[in-house]
Amino acid sequence: MIVESTPSSWILETHNTAYALGFNASGALLHRYWGRKLPQHSDYPEAANYPNWASFDGPQNLWQEEFPVYGGMSYVEPCLKTTFADGTRDTVLEFVKSETQGDELQITLKDSHYPLEVILHYRVFFEHDLIVRFVTLKNLGSEKISLERIFSAQWHFPLHDTYQLTHLSGRWNDEYQIRREPLGHGTKVLESRRLTSSHHHNPWFALERGDATETHGAVWFGALAWSGNWKLTAEVTNFYATRVSMGLNDWDFALELHAGETFVSPEALGGFSLEGYGGASRLLHDHIRQNVIPHGPVTHKVLYNSWEATFFDVTEAGQGKLAELAAEMGIELFVVDDGWFQGRHSDQAALGDWWPDAGKFPNGLQPLIDKVNALGMDFGLWIEPEMVNPDSDLYRAHPDWAIHFPTRARTTGRNQLILNLAKLEVQHYLIEMLDKLLAQHPISFIKWDMNRNVSEPGWAEHPQGKEIWVRYVEGLYHVWDTLRLRHPNIFWQSCSGGGGRADLGILTKADQIWASDNTEPAARLSIQEGFSLAYPALIMEAWVTDMGTAPLEFRLHVSMLGALGIGADLTHWNEAERALAAHWIAYYKTIRHIVQLGDQYRLRSDRDLRGLHGQVGNYSSWMYLSKDKTEGVLFDFRTHLSDPVVLPAIKLCGLEPESLYQLEGHGTRSGLAWMEIGVHLHPLTETHSNFGDRSSSVLKIKKV
Ligand code: DGJ
Repeated sequence: MIVESTPSSWILETHNTAYALGFNASGALLHRYWGRKLPQHSDYPEAANYPNWASFDGPQNLWQEEFPVYGGMSYVEPCLKTTFADGTRDTVLEFVKSETQGDELQITLKDSHYPLEVILHYRVFFEHDLIVRFVTLKNLGSEKISLERIFSAQWHFPLHDTYQLTHLSGRWNDEYQIRREPLGHGTKVLESRRLTSSHHHNPWFALERGDATETHGAVWFGALAWSGNWKLTAEVTNFYATRVSMGLNDWDFALELHAGETFVSPEALGGFSLEGYGGASRLLHDHIRQNVIPHGPVTHKVLYNSWEATFFDVTEAGQGKLAELAAEMGIELFVVDDGWFQGRHSDQAALGDWWPDAGKFPNGLQPLIDKVNALGMDFGLWIEPEMVNPDSDLYRAHPDWAIHFPTRARTTGRNQLILNLAKLEVQHYLIEMLDKLLAQHPISFIKWDMNRNVSEPGWAEHPQGKEIWVRYVEGLYHVWDTLRLRHPNIFWQSCSGGGGRADLGILTKADQIWASDNTEPAARLSIQEGFSLAYPALIMEAWVTDMGTAPLEFRLHVSMLGALGIGADLTHWNEAERALAAHWIAYYKTIRHIVQLGDQYRLRSDRDLRGLHGQVGNYSSWMYLSKDKTEGVLFDFRTHLSDPVVLPAIKLCGLEPESLYQLEGHGTRSGLAWMEIGVHLHPLTETHSNFGDRSSSVLKIKKV
């Protein structure tokens, strides 16, 4: 809900929060408040109007400007930096008008001299306590305007407090590791310079005063809906103001706005919760399920993926055998990964030639698809459309389509180059080629992979080659959106060598993310925990594979924390193993609506963050509860503990305090009792022999 408290100030109210902004007496648009909703509109502070503090600091350095620009005596991180046609590199924005359309507030500003219009958009998601911000830039004149930085938003936090920044960082095979660190004076930068949102930092953050836990405390959080180079700056000024800005990365960046042109920035999302990190995550989970992913909150099928079973050794007979075994175990979707297309016998060749390999599939894909369908499963396929191997028909025909600088050698990664999706002819080719593949076959699921980061980012024939960073991502979105519109029933998965492209931008195309190539279950627990801070279990594809030495049941339970899949070589599993997997697949189907669509509670971290949960790490617990709070499921995992050990009680969350709940095998008590006292899932002094390392349990919770 948007409340206009005066003609030049607004309060954006959500279910539990408020965000206030307004112009001050000097005509600057300032942040006024962001946090818990207050009883009276008059409770929110006015926009401050501090004067110059010294000749070394213009007033902008003290103000909390909603959208600071590079200009005047402002030295804080700006959201916009421009160069006008006459060389002026100073922007002065003035208020033109404001408009409210439903849940969106638009504030139009214009440069005082130059024909640059800036529209700030604020979209309110009332139920989810979220605000989405973005900016539209318009060149109203006849001469070019160069943009050197465009951030979507700057978020401000209560002045004079100190904060902890939480972010997700890692690398290939080790994504989404949770880092929590105090913010000190100066600027901390998180970013991607890799063309994708990347394994290295995820475009998500949380900020709190150091007193928030999983269940309690004020947490501000945000994310950027962009799948390319992005940047986050977290700045603490010398006036004790903390602000976080998010937007396109200005590293190697330029965009030109020609006469009459418009540019719309990616969306930046911000939210606030008083229920700690868990509350913040659940708001994001609900929002992503309901407002972001294409198919919304519907349960996802149990899939089988052939990659770790057959790698490039894909044949019609081999996949058919795997499909038979998968169907017997209750799998619902059979996905053929890499290795199915013309000439693909290793990672040396063939990317770009997207038709079935004549030797492996003499009669095309249809006989295998028919078999999979006859076994009662849907059929899915892996593709990597953005890539080309130099050893491919596509590259031999169009070497100029790869991203390159003409005078430089083309650095390959996994023997492949990247097609320049900024080019219209490349977009057109991919749309037509993939459309043909999808139109010819009943394909229900596509895994869209992307297996390297960029090098030599040239776009020789374009006058402003640095635009490649933005235009590539726009091209990717265009290709994907066009295919989605033509094939609306397909579920897409975003993969980039595991979790290299998980962000709110790609999630408007893909219903699922392949979170990591690391499928070793203990490693996976920590990857999945980090992932869960930002993204819901519904979209987290999690396979059971043969990686590592953990017992099969433990591996199954770890994967059941998300959208369960199997990726092992089933021909090597014995009957007992297949029966055990079939048992847990059947069980998962009875709880998946809770796991995928319910509320998730991280009861204990494997990493025992900050020791808040007691002394024991390597013992984790997760709970999922249906939205109506009538049924839930409790998981616990012991990864590695030295014996003897005293395992702590697990305290449940989210239950109705007065209602009675039965916890499978542990009796019936009030919701409050389960939450206050908890449950010792294993006798206190159990030793390695009867509840050992890498053991786990899954228990149902039922309101009675
Ligand atoms: C990387 C992905 O993350 C894997 O799951 C698999 O699809 C391979 N690529 C195939 O080349």
